[in-house]
Amino acid sequence: MRYGHFDDERREYVIDRPDTPLPWINYLGTEAYFGIVSNTAGGYSFYRDARLRRLTRYRYNNAPFDVGGRYLYVRDDATGDFWSPSWQPTRSRLDEYECRHGLSYTRIASARGGIRAETLYFVPLGETLEVWRARVTNERDTAAELSLFSSVEFCLWDAQDDATNFQRNFSTGQVEVADGVIYHKTEYRERRDHFAYFACSEPLAGFDTQRDTFLGAYRGWDRPAAVERGAALDSIAYGWAPIGSHHVRLALAPGESREVVFVLGYAENPRDEKFDPRGSQTLNKRPVIERWLRPETVAEGFAALGDHWDRLLGGLRVTTPDADTDRMVNIWNAYQCMVTFNLSRSASFYESGIGRGMGFRDSNQDLLGFVHMIPERARERILDIAATQMATGGAYHQYQPLTKRGNDDIGEGFNDDPLWLVLGVSAYVKETGDETILDEPVTFDNAPGSEAPLYEHLRRSLRYTQERLGPHGLPLIGRADWNDCLNLNCFSDTPGEPFQTTENASGGAAESVFIAGQFVLAAKELAAIAELRGLTGEAAEYRAAAEKMTGVILEHGWDGAWFRRAYDFYGHPIGSGENDEGQIFIEPQGICVLGGVGLDDGLAVRALRSVAERLATPHGIVLQQPAYSSYRIELGEISSYPPGYKENAGIFCHTNPWIMIAEAMVGNGDRAFDYYRRINPSVREAISEAHRCEPYVYAQMIAGRDAPAHGEAKNSWLTGTAAWNFVAITQWILGIRPELTGLRVDPVLPANWPGFRATRAFRDATYEITVRKAAGATGRVAYLIVDGERVDGTVAPIAAPGAVVRVEAVIEE
Ligand code: GLC
Ligand code: GLC
Repeated sequence: MRYGHFDDERREYVIDRPDTPLPWINYLGTEAYFGIVSNTAGGYSFYRDARLRRLTRYRYNNAPFDVGGRYLYVRDDATGDFWSPSWQPTRSRLDEYECRHGLSYTRIASARGGIRAETLYFVPLGETLEVWRARVTNERDTAAELSLFSSVEFCLWDAQDDATNFQRNFSTGQVEVADGVIYHKTEYRERRDHFAYFACSEPLAGFDTQRDTFLGAYRGWDRPAAVERGAALDSIAYGWAPIGSHHVRLALAPGESREVVFVLGYAENPRDEKFDPRGSQTLNKRPVIERWLRPETVAEGFAALGDHWDRLLGGLRVTTPDADTDRMVNIWNAYQCMVTFNLSRSASFYESGIGRGMGFRDSNQDLLGFVHMIPERARERILDIAATQMATGGAYHQYQPLTKRGNDDIGEGFNDDPLWLVLGVSAYVKETGDETILDEPVTFDNAPGSEAPLYEHLRRSLRYTQERLGPHGLPLIGRADWNDCLNLNCFSDTPGEPFQTTENASGGAAESVFIAGQFVLAAKELAAIAELRGLTGEAAEYRAAAEKMTGVILEHGWDGAWFRRAYDFYGHPIGSGENDEGQIFIEPQGICVLGGVGLDDGLAVRALRSVAERLATPHGIVLQQPAYSSYRIELGEISSYPPGYKENAGIFCHTNPWIMIAEAMVGNGDRAFDYYRRINPSVREAISEAHRCEPYVYAQMIAGRDAPAHGEAKNSWLTGTAAWNFVAITQWILGIRPELTGLRVDPVLPANWPGFRATRAFRDATYEITVRKAAGATGRVAYLIVDGERVDGTVAPIAAPGAVVRVEAVIEE
């Protein structure tokens, strides 16, 4: 069952009923001001940091799930009938409803009793404000006397404090209202230099700024007293809960339409110009607002946003026989990658905006999905991340985006972390050819004076692994590797103890086969970079180290039919046929093959067969099997989840593309693409009632076969799944892969495809790629025709800036 459809032409998902299984959301903002908006206008806004500069209040885990947002109310003043054109919060019956989530904008339109209201929400480029453009149309054949009410509930800036510190917060709220503009200035009187404003393009019939006056005692947002009455009370908040609500009267002739623009924004004043007049307590209101209340400005701003997305998405366009592939690659998957760039893991409907900062591991992987769209910002991101690395090569697991410093609460010891930096930098250099980044001086742990070239950081990343090997010669796992929930040194029996940072057993020598595979991959990548820099000897050392680690994996990490996962504190294997549960894990099958382990001796193929037999389900590939049926103190958080959820045998979507890539590497295009389609949200649109999350973006997890709700997705949007699926489909299945020497075109396609076409911007040139394949053929490209000339192998050389290069690839058998 579907709740809408894709409009690929307009790059929108169109939701045609408001009661989606879960709120289906979108993001507003591309630079500094961001918001989350659901299909019923729920959500909130913030400036840069979702915790510290929250503009509007949102109560997570509410009932109904999604209340609080950018709500409008329309009231028919002749009858007193009122409703929300976004359905929530009144949930009145609507004659028509449509929500269009587009690229950084959302448009919600509906009609009731002959009155149509359509609201466009977006954040203009370069601004720290959001525009709501409401268009109200009288489709009746009689005149209509209407009232339009806006509403937002202000957050007292620090979202964590706002939700907990009521003894103070009920007394701090302050606003000003001037010329119809509502200014929220809580704590401005003391140490804050910033305020929010909420303005309206039309003359006001009234306003409200005190929540309980607007709503009335014992009422919620579904039945505000002011709206019911048809008149605002001009309340001025002093303490309690400041809100913003404008009341506008609209007299519309039959067929008449009126545009009303609301602007919600964030502004800062220089400290010595906070008040006007100086010495007073009156906010210095700068003329930031007025421009955006004009319809022409709004129209221009909206068009500019569209151009912005044309530029971002224009760098890679594919036309394949599969519509789900095209729309994910060309639109939604790329869009989701940009959202993970902007938001990391901070604010979604599952991430409350007050939790984690930026993950060292997560951010390096996210980069794989956006580096081709915004290489300069990827460069900046890499340098920020690397500057938090420690001199030992170790890494803070997280850093704070505002301060850009490592987070001491969590600290280091996730032993996979440093290796992701090598993979991130390597992806950047391959994409851009910009070797200068390797010479950039970068601090360790942000300490001034500790600068060393970025390349030195990469060396230390590898060394960090090499200096931390366990009894089998495999890398020590530390607190966890990629799987945050495999906590082999934790041994926690106390409720509430964090699994990742608690170490109750010391001297643990638990080892990770995952990190071993990742090391092989990273060492080979760094060898190629070393060679590029003329460091042949060093390159050979890295290759030898990769070789050696491969040997260790084959000796201690191979279980007979698949790669083992780890060795626990006591030296017992995990992810082995010897275990009663957790016999086979997905991660080492993926990463070891990505590193090239088992490619030339059949072990990769064997491991992938085991994945197909034991882990694959129609909804995707589960993380491990059999699921842990009880808590195991020696394994940690993984066994804290009920079977089928999250790391305990859920379909942890992030890992699935590793298997797709591995299948492509062994030449199995049908299986790679089949796995790709199993978790492709656009394909799963058809089962939206079971999948439940948005059909246009990946979710972190789909419940595994051990869960009663097998196939139900959760934690959509902010997940490394976005980047890795983008890599799997574009670079391995379609095979268009940036490399140090050029653009590789080496697709591994499903047998029944006749080929595909693509346009790829690469190093300032444009590659027009055509792949032709005899139907039924399952082989690889033998050579390319580049601008009419035959090129042996599959790499199209780097072209002159501005060139348009025609690349033809033919698969004959
Ligand atoms: C979450 C984390 C990521 C981790 C994964 C598996 O997605 O953000 O860092 O690798 O879970 O535990
Ligand atoms: C929990 C989650 C895991 C996530 C981690 C982040 O362990 O299960 O998916 O990576 O929290 O800290």
